Amino acid sequence: MADGIIAVLLERLVSTVYEYVDGEMKHVLNVAKEIDDFAAKLKGIQAVLEDAEQRQVKDASVRIWLDKLNDISYKMVDVLDEWNTDILKQQVEHQEREGEKVAPKKKMKKKVAFSVSPSCFCFRKAREVTFRHEIGSMIKDLNDKLSVIDEQRRNTLVFQLNQNGIQQVPKRQETSHYVDMSTVFGRENEKDVLITKLLSDGREDRRGILTIPILGMGGMGKTTLTQLAYNDANVQTYFDKRIWVCVSHPFDEIKIAKAISSDNPPSSNDQLSHVLDSMSTSIKGKRFLIVLDDVWTHDPEKWELLRIPLIQSGAKGSRILVTTRQHDVVDKMEATRDVINLEELSEKYCLSIFDHFSGRQVDEFEDISKEMVEKCKGLPLAAKALGSLMRNKRTRRAWLDVLNSKVWDREEVEQKVFQPLLLSYYDLAPTVKCCLLYCASFPKDYEFQRDCLINHWMAQDYLNSVGNKDKGELGHEFFDNLVARSFFQDLKKNSVTGKVTGCKMHDIVHDFVQSLTKNECLIIDTASVGNEIEVLGEKVRHLTLKLKHGEPLPPSNAYYNYKNLRTLTIKFSFLRYGTSNPMMIDSNLLLQLKCLRTLNLSEIGISEVPKEIGDLIHLRHIDLSWNRGLKILPDSICELYNLYTLRLCYCRSLEKLPDNIWKLISLKHLYVRGCLELEYLPKGIRRLKKLKTIDECVVVCGDDEDRAALQVGDLRALNLHGSLTIRLNGNVEDERELEKAQLWHMKQLFYLGINFEHVQYKQTASTKEILNVLRPHENLESLDICYHSSTTCPNWMMSSHNLRFITLLGWTECKFLPPLGKLPYLEKLTIISLRRVEKLSGEFLGIDKAETSLASSFFPKLKQLVINCMPALVEWEVGVEGWTKEASEISIMPCLSSLEISLCPLLKTLPNFLCKTPLQDLIIKDCLRLFKRCKQGSGEEWPKISHIPNIKISPSWT
Ligand SMILES: *[C@@H]1O[C@H](CO)[C@@H](O)[C@H](O)[C@H]1NC(C)=O
Repeated sequence: MADGIIAVLLERLVSTVYEYVDGEMKHVLNVAKEIDDFAAKLKGIQAVLEDAEQRQVKDASVRIWLDKLNDISYKMVDVLDEWNTDILKQQVEHQEREGEKVAPKKKMKKKVAFSVSPSCFCFRKAREVTFRHEIGSMIKDLNDKLSVIDEQRRNTLVFQLNQNGIQQVPKRQETSHYVDMSTVFGRENEKDVLITKLLSDGREDRRGILTIPILGMGGMGKTTLTQLAYNDANVQTYFDKRIWVCVSHPFDEIKIAKAISSDNPPSSNDQLSHVLDSMSTSIKGKRFLIVLDDVWTHDPEKWELLRIPLIQSGAKGSRILVTTRQHDVVDKMEATRDVINLEELSEKYCLSIFDHFSGRQVDEFEDISKEMVEKCKGLPLAAKALGSLMRNKRTRRAWLDVLNSKVWDREEVEQKVFQPLLLSYYDLAPTVKCCLLYCASFPKDYEFQRDCLINHWMAQDYLNSVGNKDKGELGHEFFDNLVARSFFQDLKKNSVTGKVTGCKMHDIVHDFVQSLTKNECLIIDTASVGNEIEVLGEKVRHLTLKLKHGEPLPPSNAYYNYKNLRTLTIKFSFLRYGTSNPMMIDSNLLLQLKCLRTLNLSEIGISEVPKEIGDLIHLRHIDLSWNRGLKILPDSICELYNLYTLRLCYCRSLEKLPDNIWKLISLKHLYVRGCLELEYLPKGIRRLKKLKTIDECVVVCGDDEDRAALQVGDLRALNLHGSLTIRLNGNVEDERELEKAQLWHMKQLFYLGINFEHVQYKQTASTKEILNVLRPHENLESLDICYHSSTTCPNWMMSSHNLRFITLLGWTECKFLPPLGKLPYLEKLTIISLRRVEKLSGEFLGIDKAETSLASSFFPKLKQLVINCMPALVEWEVGVEGWTKEASEISIMPCLSSLEISLCPLLKTLPNFLCKTPLQDLIIKDCLRLFKRCKQGSGEEWPKISHIPNIKISPSWT
């Protein structure tokens, strides 16, 4: 991980540190010089790092050297962070002294306020001076250590590390079109699809030649599939000329062009235009098939350079076949339509491959083979490598040995399987590498959530922004980058926007990443370790500890060394439901965790957090969710000045948050959803200037002069970005009180949720007026309104033109839906539990009687519609007079692709216009009447839906 960590550290050294040094420190110590020195050495080392990283695999002395370097880098990061924390602390203390007496504006002007006695001031000064000396000497110490490391690099011959590591990059083996058919198993379907694409006439797009990309992670068998098609008899006769080019890294257009025209290998004085000319001549008028195997570049200009002459010279029906492991290559070639995604190979075929290469006799080691193949997780290359490994092993014992070892520790397998992944890995920027490697600290098959993972990276300080770019934005870029290079799979996408929101990592990629982190990331399952004591060495920095049911944490001792941990997750191998004795966290243990950045104690049944947590000054991310017995948090938690994220979701018993929460000046995300006992949030929250998310903001209404509680008017002080859910509590006397929230100022808010479940309002019991004053900014894209007790919608809703997602839930009085069909950008609408609505018709579309003759469109962008739990709903009709199936100027829901209707037992009709929508998915559940009427073929409603490809209709949930 060293190159990543050093890149991160260097970025920090050049940015933040100089700011500190320019302050008072400058005169006190020689710190500036020390840091300059340190940074200079580090830069020198960085130049050889790429080489060192790659050589460590073989060379133990390089590995030891790297470990030391790594260690110093981590320590330096900690020292700088400690320093930074002190600065934050001073800011908080400054605020504390001033209190809230001074209005914020005046406070800015006044430089220093001595509201404390001079002696106290002196004491503070003295403490600061001591602290700085300590920091100074720590930096000096680390600097000296780095000198030693640097000396080693310069003077020891063993190293001779290469300045531009290029030569050391493992070279991908050249491929050719020859294939040994006896080693190929499966892929019949893919082959058929591919050959059809190659041979079908008239499939050229408007740009001439059809480009067919084959996409998949390293080792999935892209090249093999291509070879199959290339050598197919029909393909051979169909094309006049077939050419195989092994592209790899870097994309060299001259080399490729020469390969196509089968000229001599490139020489230094080749002129591009000359080479392209001769390429054109060689294929002139011919129907060609060109294979570009293993393309990495996403430089569209280079690609165009080749493509244009190919189109101009080739005959109709020519094809270009491209294999790649990167999504962006496909995008840049504008060939997404014809892409073939190569997925995992079925276990059956993996076994065939394994058998072939292991030379196993029938009935021999049958059970063991199956288990081994399971480990390959559908990766043909892995099956091949494992098979080859077993080839000369002839005893059952030898086979069991391999099965029970960590398979990938076997060098033979590792080299073969990881090689292709390694190529993708070396292609990443150092900081992106860090982010990828961090994923090894999550268990296999973990479902990563985009935002959550980015928060983790942020907590480890991997996202150092350059220039003005926001750290979060950088995180999104990194995430997309890793997705594009096939390090992630099983992508979960937002059904409407298509953005990837979650993903998993292939088991073998996980093994690979784990092998790269060496022992920095570790997952220990005490249940499967048994009584053996697994040694937790100093190198471990990210630890997930799975404990047996009811087992206490292992104490910190010679075996368990916690002091370098930067991430600690504790969980149980299986859940502890209904356990009587709560889990205790030993405070001595907590005190060991001095370097910790991320602490995850969710769902382990703690009822108390030791106050010592306040000493873990580097903490940035705490997850205490799902601890149902947790009633309060220690006040000391407010001394974590670096804390970004505090997750407390579903801590059902949590009664309050500490009043001093205002001290968490770095806090960005606060999650308190499902904390049902939480009656209010502390007022101090309004002072948190960095706060961007409160997932469920409990806001107290009423004349309750409880100054401790966050009130509606306080929302104004917050500048939340992203999302806000307001849960109103208490008794509203006068809706004008709510106006103070001034939500319309929050330009950056794109999601707003309002929940009225716990509010009382005058006698009228209607929440209409309240809702009217909570008008959001018109940038708002997403809106949920729950438990609204009025017959109509808020007056601003129909003028919020930018709304794309709407959920209406539990509108108890509402009989007629608002005219949502008029919202021009609405993409997804969810209606749940509107118990009085009997009919959906014209008013829902937003049709005025006068307007109907005009050509118009209702719900013009709606893609997804969910109607759930509407016990009174009987009819859904068009509501437009004279609307016919054949001809109409009126278009209704012209983009609708998914419709779900459930728990509407009385509903009997579907509207006619459905047959004109491009619906792809229809789900009808628990709608008894509709179930009968939608019967395939004979049902009355069937003609309206018969065109839909995926229909699921069931009489009940089961
Ligand atoms: C904390 O760990 C649990 C598993 O024990 C996991 O489900 C959760 O996602 C983790 N929290 C974060 C913020 O990663």
